[in-house]
Amino acid sequence: MYNSKITGLGYYVPENVVTNDDLSKMMDTNDEWIQERTGIKERRWIKEGSEDTTAVMGAKASRIAIERAGLTKDDIDFIVFATLSPDYYFPGGGVQLQDMLDMRTVGALDVRNQCSGFIYALSVADQFIKTGMYKNVLVVGAEHHSGGLDKTNRGRSVTVIFGDGAGAAVLSRTEDNTKGILSSHLYSEGKHAKELIVESPSIKHWVPALIAANDENDESYYPYMNGTFVFKHAVVRFSEAIIAGLEKNNLQATDINMLIPHQANLRISQFVQKKFKLTDDQVYNNIMKFGNTTAASVIIALTEAWELGKIKDNDLVVLAAFGSGFTWGSVIMRW
Ligand SMILES: CC(C)(COP(=O)(O)OP(=O)(O)OC[C@H]1O[C@@H](n2cnc3c(N)ncnc32)[C@H](O)[C@@H]1OP(=O)(O)O)[C@@H](O)C(=O)NCCC(=O)NCCS
Repeated sequence: MYNSKITGLGYYVPENVVTNDDLSKMMDTNDEWIQERTGIKERRWIKEGSEDTTAVMGAKASRIAIERAGLTKDDIDFIVFATLSPDYYFPGGGVQLQDMLDMRTVGALDVRNQCSGFIYALSVADQFIKTGMYKNVLVVGAEHHSGGLDKTNRGRSVTVIFGDGAGAAVLSRTEDNTKGILSSHLYSEGKHAKELIVESPSIKHWVPALIAANDENDESYYPYMNGTFVFKHAVVRFSEAIIAGLEKNNLQATDINMLIPHQANLRISQFVQKKFKLTDDQVYNNIMKFGNTTAASVIIALTEAWELGKIKDNDLVVLAAFGSGFTWGSVIMRW
């Protein structure tokens, strides 16, 4: 068995900043409500007319990650692409990335696990490397939320939370058993699928039926979230996933150097931080600037923390996420 290690990181966010005050001009909301409930001050939303899409942003982040890994596109053996907002209903973003980066005809796998998408994607890549099948896997999380949000009063409890962006990691084979991904832990509980969902279009609500109904009050195109229910489950599941990772590796919370929680809500991160008695230096949050970028959030935060020098050689780094599905999980690694 080999080990796998992140050798390159990159992220890209659209340049268009949307502040809470900007949102208050579109819907009945305000900076105080948003900051108090979520910690978010601003987010990036792709501007109309921009070339950016989910796949384009994924490609921009990937180029940075591949270069920082000291590799070229031809060294990548496989792509894992996580998103809930693909450019097309099908095919998924993975093949678009293969084309946009002008890569060899390597395999491309799409992961549909919403906020825990990057954790799932990284875990899949880890298995391919540990078995010796691949040497370098490109793992991407990218989201274009802004095009699919309800920007009227009706959507305000969801719309203010989400932002656009992408992040990428190159996961590479290493024979050093002391470094890299120690373990990953994945979970799901589908009975809560409808607590955080976009129902249409889907085979149950297919386009001809939607057109025929011509119902402008149809909210099934937009994300629905039972916020309080999601919040309560998130704090429990985040903690469980972190504990599972620590126990598996005979580690304690005091061993954590850096926790990167999915940026769902600053209050969720703070709850988890308090539960594990971590200091501000041991947890990295950037939801204030970028909002919740779903599958991109963990990888954008990891990249930014690393760029700022907050992750050092030999640090114990814990990634954890929870989201729609419900799905949740963690990845424990030695940097
Ligand atoms: C979404 C969330 C911020 C809402 O916070 P909350 O404290 O639960 O707020 P509520 O939904 O109970 O709404 C409280 C009031 O604010 C109002 N409100 C909702 N959105 C608002 C907005 N953007 N601006 C102003 N008021 C708003 C509601 O209508 C409600 O008004 P009422 O009391 O008159 O009915 C919170 O539930 C949350 O963060 N949940 C987890 C979300 C999450 O992590 N999602 C990602 C999945 S990984």
